[in-house]
Amino acid sequence: MSGHPRIVAYLQRALNHEFSAVQQFTLQAVQAERLGLGAFAGELRAGALDELRHAEAFCRRLHELGVGSPSAQAVGRPVGRTQVELLHFGLLTEAEAMRIYAEALRCCERMADAENARLFARIHADEVQHYQELERRLREHGAEMTH
Ligand SMILES: [Fe+2]
Ligand SMILES: [Fe+2]
Repeated sequence: MSGHPRIVAYLQRALNHEFSAVQQFTLQAVQAERLGLGAFAGELRAGALDELRHAEAFCRRLHELGVGSPSAQAVGRPVGRTQVELLHFGLLTEAEAMRIYAEALRCCERMADAENARLFARIHADEVQHYQELERRLREHGAEMTH
């Protein structure tokens, strides 16, 4: 299997994004613990694991495409202090993931790359679920939606 350089670039960007999300949600889980929100901390940890599995899937695909020794660069994303801030910054990360993967999916479709299109579509669907869950939680807190 070989991939078009543009699709390989999307996979690499996706890998970076997923590790950034793992980092953010892990830091948020500790902050939630500090706020005494044990159940929420557990949810954030579970969310970090979801993103870790996404990272593995993208990394595996890069290997399959012959990219030797893929590596990732996590970008520091805001953590937040209050519960609403944690939810809000998480929501921004999920929105960014949805945006990148929708764009990657369109690129795969244009290039008739069905296999990578399936991968991006599957993970995009997970991110939509993550996004909707955070959006629901923010509404429960009566927070203003910013987008
Ligand atoms: Fe993800
Ligand atoms: Fe996500």
